[in-house]
Amino acid sequence: MPVNIAVLASGNGSNAQSIMDKIAAGALDARLRLVVSNRPGAGVLERARKADIPCALLDHTLWPDREAYDAALADVLKRHGAEYIAMAGYMRLVTAGFLHAFKGRVVNIHPALLPSFPGLHGGAGALAYGVTLSGCTVHFVEEAVDGGPIVIQAAVPVRDGEDLDCLMARIHALEHRVYPQALQWLAQGRITKKGRRVCLAPSGAKRAPCGEECLIWPPLEEGF
Ligand code: GRF
Repeated sequence: MPVNIAVLASGNGSNAQSIMDKIAAGALDARLRLVVSNRPGAGVLERARKADIPCALLDHTLWPDREAYDAALADVLKRHGAEYIAMAGYMRLVTAGFLHAFKGRVVNIHPALLPSFPGLHGGAGALAYGVTLSGCTVHFVEEAVDGGPIVIQAAVPVRDGEDLDCLMARIHALEHRVYPQALQWLAQGRITKKGRRVCLAPSGAKRAPCGEECLIWPPLEEGF
């Protein structure tokens, strides 16, 4: 049975696109029930319309506070049958009430190797700091910003003299592989949490090659 997911995004939506593409390709066994953006004109809404996926604009400026907004958001998501919530470039902190409504079923992707460089400018922060490895992280969402248990990480070397655009483009390309993979593991019911540690039940799936010089762990499986 495919799992019902919804995507929250504030911007361009290339991660949302990769999720739609992996569903369409049959690699991700999920139904994308709804795409929600809090920003009018966000590219992700156009992407959803093109793919014939239900989408909604919930402009946060129209609600009096975070709690009221998140209650309305949770309500819309539940009415569309969403079980798992994938935040993909969703530029808002979610409230405890929202996390309670989808307990243990909200995930996010962050463009840095957590727990280093959480927050808004994680990618830029890592480069400015002078790290030699950066990457991206898919994690469960908890109240602490970018602080929930980690599902998968991809690490790439920072090249000599590389600028932020170039590094972020490489990280973005990996995001498009690891996020749908993480969602597929959730869809397959292979993820369990023991405290902060996330365990992935093994399967007979073949591993997929990483492609460019990088380390992805747990390894991607065929189709991702
Ligand atoms: C990604 O880099 C993601 O890691 C971060 O926001 C960005 C969203 O990009 N949370 P897009 O809108 O999916 O293209």
